[in-house]
Amino acid sequence: MPVREIRLLGDPVLRKEADEVVAFDAGLRALVRDMFETMYHEEGIGLAAPQIGIGKRVIVVDLRREDHDDEPLALVNPRVIWASSETAKQTEGCLSIPTLEEIVERPAKVRVEAHDPEGERVELHADDLLGRALQHEIDHLDGILFLDRVSALKRRMLLRKWKKLEEEHES
Ligand code: NI
Repeated sequence: MPVREIRLLGDPVLRKEADEVVAFDAGLRALVRDMFETMYHEEGIGLAAPQIGIGKRVIVVDLRREDHDDEPLALVNPRVIWASSETAKQTEGCLSIPTLEEIVERPAKVRVEAHDPEGERVELHADDLLGRALQHEIDHLDGILFLDRVSALKRRMLLRKWKKLEEEHES
């Protein structure tokens, strides 16, 4: 089953801390393939495994639809090992909270340590949209959503809007 169902805000799996991957096996590579296919199908630029209901520390990112030429990335057990004190503000959305967007302030640059799906250690320095996407997806692995990174006032507004969308959807 290549394209998987996206879990939406309210699903408890999005709030759980995901488990470290210990086996770099065919199952992991199949998960990565499904995650890329699901992300492309949903026209997203990043996806974390919990968003398809899998509690494992795996993310994929591909910024080419936003006209960035970075190579597509699949990172296993990624960790932010350094973040700049300088911050940047940019609008974010999330496939698990469709139609909602808000400006989120995050460190402008980060250094990320991870493994690739074959188990090789990788380290990357990322800024701009890549730095933001990596931070957003790594947050998912700790049960954190972009909603948690905005002011309480903005969060309340977003949650109200989400509730309204859900009600419209049900009626
Ligand atoms: Ni997201």
